[in-house]
Amino acid sequence: MLSGNSLHLFSGSTKYGVSVDRNVNANPTVVADFNHLPFYPNTFDAVLADPPYADHWQKQWGGDLPQPKQILRAASRVVRRGGLIGILHIIVIPCYKEFNIERVAIHPILCGPNNVLRAFNVYRKL
Ligand SMILES: C[S@@+](CC[C@H](N)C(=O)[O-])C[C@H]1O[C@@H](n2cnc3c(N)ncnc32)[C@H](O)[C@@H]1O
Repeated sequence: MLSGNSLHLFSGSTKYGVSVDRNVNANPTVVADFNHLPFYPNTFDAVLADPPYADHWQKQWGGDLPQPKQILRAASRVVRRGGLIGILHIIVIPCYKEFNIERVAIHPILCGPNNVLRAFNVYRKL
């Protein structure tokens, strides 16, 4: 899914593609809020997002918990037509038609032994 022209949202300190995080100490490529991405529309071949998905985690990073629909809106704006979006979350995120996307897959991800499953939501921009 990922190539050299990939965007990694909520990257933390992970180095993969163009990384974006609002925490300057994570040393991402770009320090920005996911809701105010400084990129033109249709820029990336793929967008990967690993957002916080629970209030008790978000507390350590501050601000409001990123909403799945807002993440999908932000990702679908900057991915190119035909490009893929992958979002790891605890929910199956609806395929909002207003973002001009289609669902490609929902992969169950086990993040550790005796842990709950996450859903890796995959979409393609039409
Ligand atoms: C679930 S962690 C991701 C961790 C990273 N993928 C890793 O494996 O280390 C969430 C990250 O999202 C960032 N974050 C939280 N809210 C954000 C926002 N509104 N915009 C951009 N980044 C945000 C935090 O700073 C934190 O680094």
